[in-house]
Amino acid sequence: MTKRLSSFAVPAALLLLISGAAGQVRLLDVPYVPTKFPVVDEMLSMAGVSKNDIVYDLGCGDGRIVIGAAQKYGARGIGIDLDPERILESEANASSAGVADRVRFYTGDLFEADIREATVVSLYLLTSINLRLRPRLLRELRPGSRVVSHNFAMENWKPDASSEVEVDGVRHDVFLWVIPANASGAWTWTMKIKGKTTTVRADLIQKYQYAKGTVKIGGTEAAIADAKIQGDLVRFRFEAAVAGSPAAFVFEGKLVGQSINGTIRSVVDGETRVWTWKAFRNPTTEKPIDEPPDAG
Ligand SMILES: C[S@@+](CC[C@H](N)C(=O)[O-])C[C@H]1O[C@@H](n2cnc3c(N)ncnc32)[C@H](O)[C@@H]1O
Repeated sequence: MTKRLSSFAVPAALLLLISGAAGQVRLLDVPYVPTKFPVVDEMLSMAGVSKNDIVYDLGCGDGRIVIGAAQKYGARGIGIDLDPERILESEANASSAGVADRVRFYTGDLFEADIREATVVSLYLLTSINLRLRPRLLRELRPGSRVVSHNFAMENWKPDASSEVEVDGVRHDVFLWVIPANASGAWTWTMKIKGKTTTVRADLIQKYQYAKGTVKIGGTEAAIADAKIQGDLVRFRFEAAVAGSPAAFVFEGKLVGQSINGTIRSVVDGETRVWTWKAFRNPTTEKPIDEPPDAG
C-alpha cells in the first residue's frame, strides 16, 4: 500500500525564523520539502507548460520547478521564497542548468507577490495556504492560466484534472485548475426564430468553472444545462418549446470583457442551423465566482 502525505510532518519548531529587512522575524508558513523530480515532471506536463508560459512557483525552494520549466519547455519563470538561502540555491541551480537568462528568483513573502503576469502558478504549500491564495488566483490571473498543486487541493474549487505519481512507495497527488473567466450575470442577445427577431436573456450564476441559470426566449423560460467555463470559453445548452416548436440550442463563445462572441447551434422543428452568437452583459450583474473558504 502506498503512503500519502496530507500535511507536512514537521514540528512547528523546525520552521525557520527569517529576519526581515527591518529586523523583524517572519515564520515560514510551510517548511522546506522539495518536490521529487518525477512529481515536478508530472506538474509541468499537466499544466501543459510551453515556451510561451511564465511559470511562478510560490515558495520555490531550490527553484527546481521553474528551472525544470525553462530547461524542458523553454518557459520563463519566477520563483519566490521567504528564505534567502533557498533563493541563493535556486540561483546557483539555474546557472548550473544553463537557464539563468530565463528565470528570476526573489526573496519575499508569497502573499505579497504580484502574480498578475503568471500564466502558470505552481504550489507545494498547504490546503490552508491554497485557500488564502484562492481569491487572488481567481481574480488576478488571466482566464486560461493554470494553477498546479502538489498534494494540496482547494476544497470546493474542484480541480479540472488530477493525477497520482508514486515515488519510493509514497503516493503524490497533482491537481490542476484552469482559471475560468467570470461569466456570471445577465446576458442578452437577439436571434431570428421562425423569421422573427427575438431577444434572448440568460442569467448565469457561476461558481468557479461551473454555472447554472435560466434562459428566457420568446415568452418561454428554460433551465441552462451543462454550463462550463474553460478559460475564456463559455459553453451551455438548453431545450425548450419555442414558438410552439421543440427546440435545442448549444451556445459556445469566447468571453472578452462584457461580451461573448461565438456560435449557436440550434435544432428547431428538426432543422439544424449554426448562427453567430454575440451576447452582451449588464456589467452591474457580474458577481464574484468564488466562495469564502468555510462555505463548504
Ligand atoms: C514545501 S516547500 C516547496 C518548495 C518547492 N516549491 C518545491 O515544490 O520543491 C515550501 C517552500 O515555501 C517556502 N515558504 C514558506 N512560507 C513562505 C512564504 N510566506 N512566502 C514565501 N515562501 C514561503 C519555504 O521556504 C519552502 O521553500
